[in-house]
Amino acid sequence: MEPVVLSNVSFRYSRKDDYILQDLSFQAGVGELWCLLGSSGSGKSTMIRLLMGLNVPTSGTVQVFGECAPFRTMRPRIGYMPQDSALYNDLTGRENLHFFGELSGVKHRELSTRAAELLDFFDLTNAADRLVSKYSGGMQRRLSLAIALMAKPDLLVLDEPTVGLDPRQRLRIWNQLFQMNADGVTILITTHVMDEAERCPNVALLADGHIIGSGSPQEICQHAGKTRLEGAFLQILDGERIRREKHLVPRL
Ligand SMILES: Nc1ncnc2c1ncn2[C@@H]1O[C@H](COP(=O)(O)OP(=O)(O)OP(=O)(O)O)[C@@H](O)[C@H]1O
Ligand SMILES: [Mg+2]
Repeated sequence: MEPVVLSNVSFRYSRKDDYILQDLSFQAGVGELWCLLGSSGSGKSTMIRLLMGLNVPTSGTVQVFGECAPFRTMRPRIGYMPQDSALYNDLTGRENLHFFGELSGVKHRELSTRAAELLDFFDLTNAADRLVSKYSGGMQRRLSLAIALMAKPDLLVLDEPTVGLDPRQRLRIWNQLFQMNADGVTILITTHVMDEAERCPNVALLADGHIIGSGSPQEICQHAGKTRLEGAFLQILDGERIRREKHLVPRL
């Protein structure tokens, strides 16, 4: 079963709002690593929330491992890190890991060991028993990522996981993600950072609710006649806008 399939998905938050996503189709195969790249407000988090069953498509279908939302049986196979912190501030880091670990199906006897492993990997061991309300922004991001990894998921969905992290932590996390991907985990990640996207095997460019390009960074650059992904993205974006504006010119 394909880990992620969005078919002709349109979405608006309410009847009086404009569509945020329009007739969007996207697929991530088993063991693929996809980076979703788009300007602020282009709909990345909306697409991710649809994928997690937190938003319901206005039309079209969303499937994860062949199951439509709300993914009751598939939920333990998905590790999710939202863009905004979803931590319990009045619990400690360790307690958060235990709580969310249990929710995502980690066996009771494995909770402590798994939490300790992840606290160690994310340099949070010394802060493990402090309240999350006392954590820095970067510590909270690292804890959120640790939570997403608790149940050793088959699919990881990460919404801007490296925001607020220093270069060393960023590199460590990317190395970890590449390692997990090499072990067969499917990963979908959003980022604003072009050089992060450039290192991903597959990139989908999102603009104004549409996927305007997808493929390897090399393919996208080649298609746009640019050497770097940033230039290619802007070129494709401009081309798309011109194409749509032309389309809007009334025929005489
Ligand atoms: N709850 C909501 N109600 C109405 N509109 C919303 C809501 N959440 C987001 N939007 C709108 O949907 C659009 C897409 O937002 P979204 O958060 O998906 O963008 P994004 O690509 O993730 O941006 P960023 O890179 O800044 O995180 C924006 O115009 C935003 O204002
Ligand atoms: Mg977002």
